[in-house]
Amino acid sequence: MGKIKIGVFGAGRGKTMIHEMLNNPDAEVVAICDKYQPLLDECREIADAKGVKIALYSNFEDFFQHDMDAVVMANYAHEHAKFGIRLLKSGRHILSEVLTCANLKEAVELIETVEETGKLYSYAENYCFFNTTYEMRRRYKAGDIGELMQAEGEYIHDCSGIWPQITYGERDHWRNRMSSVFYCTHSLGPILNATGLRPIYVNGFETPNMPFMRNLGWGAGSAGTLMVTLENGAIVKSIDMCLKGHSINYRMWGDTGMMETDHYESGTLHVYREHGQNDRGDWEKYVPKFTNEAANNSGHWGGDFFTSWYFVRALMGDTEAKDNIIDVYSAVDMCLPGILGYRSILEDNRRFAIPNLRNKAERDAVRGDTFCTFEESAGDMFVPNNAAQANRNERIPDSVYDEVRRRWENGEPG
Ligand SMILES: NC(=O)c1ccc[n+]([C@@H]2O[C@H](COP(=O)([O-])OP(=O)(O)OC[C@H]3O[C@@H](n4cnc5c(N)ncnc54)[C@H](O)[C@@H]3O)[C@@H](O)[C@H]2O)c1
Repeated sequence: MGKIKIGVFGAGRGKTMIHEMLNNPDAEVVAICDKYQPLLDECREIADAKGVKIALYSNFEDFFQHDMDAVVMANYAHEHAKFGIRLLKSGRHILSEVLTCANLKEAVELIETVEETGKLYSYAENYCFFNTTYEMRRRYKAGDIGELMQAEGEYIHDCSGIWPQITYGERDHWRNRMSSVFYCTHSLGPILNATGLRPIYVNGFETPNMPFMRNLGWGAGSAGTLMVTLENGAIVKSIDMCLKGHSINYRMWGDTGMMETDHYESGTLHVYREHGQNDRGDWEKYVPKFTNEAANNSGHWGGDFFTSWYFVRALMGDTEAKDNIIDVYSAVDMCLPGILGYRSILEDNRRFAIPNLRNKAERDAVRGDTFCTFEESAGDMFVPNNAAQANRNERIPDSVYDEVRRRWENGEPG
């Protein structure tokens, strides 16, 4: 079998995958697409330095025609389903960056396209592949803490410092239009991936929209919390986005033990285990090793290596890799709580049932559900991302975006 011919769509975050794929012996990066010319210029330099030939496209339609087996989708987060469906139908496999879809209608379409085409869909939820979170999965599956009762996932990322660099002062950038809970995948995903449990209900909550984010152009609640009920009755608290101080943490309590990542020593895991007697267990504290040493040089605590590696290995027919990739059903499970959680926020935090889209009968009820904060995907179910806030009718003035753009152009922080 020859090398897998890879295209990369989106060359901002996509550069990470370009590097991973250039270092992968079974992959060949053949084409890259980004409409922003300076990024394509950087890609040309990367290709030249590596001594490889890569076709560079600024237009997706031209890129789409290129001879490629698989595409890494690192384009806008709310457009992965839209472009992914086209790519799958054209016979390409896809590795999709976060998130999966903008609304429930797209979730159904994406799942059905994967089923119809038989092509590989893999979700690049890199937070599931840290040395710690992946070890939590291994230990949960080994029964080391028993049955999950409660869990917490935190993706607390105060993005204010980099907001100009990640939104470019564009009012319509997806980050300026997402809800407080849309980006729930990094906090919730590792808990779902570790346990294999499906989310069945969600209640959403959000903080006020604070001036430090509103003055950068994001009018949603600055941070969001989801309370998610899993199929075995366990409860997960999932917190994401802009609170002060960075904190990426996971805790899981079972009926015979618990485990948690270390708040201040990233890479360390604590595990408490009982051995048949209540309240008489032992603690371990250690730095789990990666299952592949190549991950040591990779971003996001090794997670960036494994998403690309397993994708390519799975395409080469490796069954262990196939067991490790995050399939389209699990990917949707990691995102639907955010979409429905915002609906809950708008309706006094009431509980929403999360459909199981593996089940064909449950798809019909949501097939036409376009509720989301992205106008072009929502049609008549559009709702603004600041609808739950006290300033609900406030339109952020153009001058805010002009200032953010000026900072981006001058390389200044937010
Ligand atoms: N997993 C992680 O740790 C992580 C980290 C950062 C970003 N991301 C994800 O990666 C994706 C990209 O994020 P980003 O930070 O690079 O910012 P971004 O979403 O602003 O960048 C997307 C890039 O795609 C290009 N693009 C989008 N649509 C295009 C089109 N139709 N034609 C040509 N080019 C197009 C844009 O020019 C831009 O450079 C998002 O989905 C984001 O959620 C994931």
